[in-house]
Amino acid sequence: MPKMNLDQAVFEIKKGNVIAFPTETVYGLGALATDGHAVGKVFLVKNRPSDNPLICHFYSWEQILEYVQPVNEYTKTLLKELTPGPASFLLKLLPNSPLRAATGGLETVICRVPNHPLTLGLIKKLNTPIVGPSANISGRPSSTNPEMVLEQFGEKISGVLDGGNSEIGVESTILDCLNSNSINILRPGAVGKSELSDIFQKHNLKVEILESETFTQTIPGNKYPHYSPKTSLLQINSISEISESSNYIIIATGEYLKQNNLKENTNNNIQIINLGSVENLETIARNLYQNLQKVDSLNSPKAFLIKENWPENTLGIAIKNRLDKVGLN
Ligand code: TXA
Ligand code: MG
Repeated sequence: MPKMNLDQAVFEIKKGNVIAFPTETVYGLGALATDGHAVGKVFLVKNRPSDNPLICHFYSWEQILEYVQPVNEYTKTLLKELTPGPASFLLKLLPNSPLRAATGGLETVICRVPNHPLTLGLIKKLNTPIVGPSANISGRPSSTNPEMVLEQFGEKISGVLDGGNSEIGVESTILDCLNSNSINILRPGAVGKSELSDIFQKHNLKVEILESETFTQTIPGNKYPHYSPKTSLLQINSISEISESSNYIIIATGEYLKQNNLKENTNNNIQIINLGSVENLETIARNLYQNLQKVDSLNSPKAFLIKENWPENTLGIAIKNRLDKVGLN
């Protein structure tokens, strides 16, 4: 049962099985967050170290509040303004919370309400939160459509709830909301500093916005590499650094390719992956992981990713954050 409808997805999850589900950011690997056995299967199929906790998905912000300790004023405002949507909230669990199965015993949990009608319907029917790490084998690009999920997981999961292509294409912004005077952007995404400060201004809230991305260092098992194809990939500053004469892949923006007179399909031995135009970061983000996964289908022994200057706006920062981690060991 590779692709499933909502009723089949509900049935499989209730049985304690793992399925993939769509969200507006990327696809997730779903199982009942309160079922230790089902959660264990997610760690196994994703090949994820057991000390790397799982993000939990809820039907609404009201449902989140049933599982966590009372939140501060700005968090309540953000929950109302940003859910459903591409933001996740690091909060404190209630003592003896049934979600501890998902958080590896941690006292905190990352909570998200995804903006996808099928998945909201799924969680509502289950009436229980589901875990939802990105649907990729650890280290590989996250999946943004059912085909990518099936290519990575095949028969290892019970199926994928088919919700088409993910609209945004990069994972949610993770917000550490534990300090009532400041908020910390732990992972950049489609909600950035400017969106947060607009909300704080509108509600007359004084909150310092930090962008420390600390959690890649603080969570064991959350280290490089990330988002990487299987093909050997090197990051370079310019094509002049390539010493090979043929048989490689270049990954760059449309602007870089044009400036360097590199055209798609002009030379069989040098293949081009065009990430898109920097004028349209939404499209670059939406296709990013598909482009990274595509590297492996081109049958080339080596790929070069050009390091470029990304705009310092919300999506530019999110895209750069992902690309910086590709192929690094
Ligand atoms: O957009 C998203 O957030 C997607 C979709 C499917 O919702 N999910 C996602 O999950 O990106 P994942 O597991 O790939 O990324 C969540 C990150 C992981 O790096 C994990 O280590 C971290 O959040 N994390 C989860 N729970 C945590 C906790 N209690 N404390 C610190 N970090 C945590
Ligand atoms: Mg992930």
